[in-house]
Amino acid sequence: MHKQFQIQFEEYDSAEGLPKEDAALLDLARNVTKDAYAPYSRFRVGAAARLSNGQIVTGTNQENASFPAGICAERTLLSVAASLCPGVPIESLAVSYDSERGASDRPISPCGICRQSLQEFEQRTGRSMRIILAGQSGKVLVLEGSATLLPFAFSSDELR
Ligand code: THU
Repeated sequence: MHKQFQIQFEEYDSAEGLPKEDAALLDLARNVTKDAYAPYSRFRVGAAARLSNGQIVTGTNQENASFPAGICAERTLLSVAASLCPGVPIESLAVSYDSERGASDRPISPCGICRQSLQEFEQRTGRSMRIILAGQSGKVLVLEGSATLLPFAFSSDELR
């Protein structure tokens, strides 16, 4: 039997077309890229989220001379959210970046490990999140839920 996944997402030409709350979150994600510690890649990533209790949290990538010890902005943010507001779902998450090596004018999407972490976060808080992806300028992608980013995900269901 032939089966297929269908992925749906919204694409905006720029942040100007976004709903106001999404635009504000993206603005914050763009701004916090300055707080990244990325002396090795010179690729600064910023993430900002609105939790369902209204709290806003941010995260940036934090690199290390021992490269694998570095952590992405998305997972930094998830740790901040889960530590400051345990059990509280994320409503929306915006991710942006600022690259010293080239233009930062198109969306990036989370790496594989971060996708897995986003899925676990949704599962443990019982709610999927709106994900807003963009550079410092240019097109913006909006996805509903991280399942779109990680089909065939491994989850805790398999460990029961
Ligand atoms: N990085 C993130 O923080 N998030 C992403 O979505 C992609 C990559 C970081 C990891 C590393 O510090 C740098 O960007 C280059 O890979």
